[in-house]
Amino acid sequence: MADDRLIAALDVPTRGEAEALVARLGDSVAYYKVGMELFYACGGDIVMWLKEQGKKVFLDLKLHDIPNTTAQGLCSLLRLRPDILNVHTAGGLRMMRAAADALHAAAEERGAACPKLIGVTVLTSMDTGDWAGLGHAGTIEDAVLRRARLAREAGLDGVVASPQETALIRRTCGADFLVVTPGIRPAGASRDDQRRVTTPAEAVRAGASHIVVGRAIYAAEDPRAAAEQVLREMEEI
Ligand code: C5P
Repeated sequence: MADDRLIAALDVPTRGEAEALVARLGDSVAYYKVGMELFYACGGDIVMWLKEQGKKVFLDLKLHDIPNTTAQGLCSLLRLRPDILNVHTAGGLRMMRAAADALHAAAEERGAACPKLIGVTVLTSMDTGDWAGLGHAGTIEDAVLRRARLAREAGLDGVVASPQETALIRRTCGADFLVVTPGIRPAGASRDDQRRVTTPAEAVRAGASHIVVGRAIYAAEDPRAAAEQVLREMEEI
């Protein structure tokens, strides 16, 4: 039933709500994303609890700092045994390379499985107006592709990108590169604050290795039914 390609975002403020949501979703979801809201509220315990439940975890903390701080920060997260960690590609090639090298070395030294390391390209909530407002001259698409190439060059395992850029990244970075796509809205759902959105089926068709779904599942009246609908839409292709 569960499909590793679906990652449900646990964007809730307390451990109690996270546990209740995981219980409601049961075996329909095998992969969870723990982001800033939950991690800052209850720390690494929630990640270890999810791992004890047999779930996979994408720890989405989007590290963005100088190379040494980012690299050491990632290594401090290794003890939680996440399956995916991420940095922000805006930190540049040297930062991403330091992060990947340090993570691989630390995992080897500890005899631990190395989590996949992916880079956030451009947030899916950004539109062309937001982008231009930051002073960027080129298009978002060009920036996403450039950042995906840099991530691959730095030794990262993949990127987070909008489904609208997924096909291009898949063609450019190859079949093994992870492309994790948030900004997913099942047919007919609200866009909320997201701008570059698409449906589960379109994301998978474009070549996404994983889709991240937040509000469309956790804010649904029946989260399990919502997750099952997403799974059906993914299989439609
Ligand atoms: O509720 P919704 O499905 O829009 O949530 C998307 C999730 O994916 C959020 O947890 C958000 O932090 C995350 N995300 C994103 N865009 C990125 C990276 C992560 O929306 N580029």
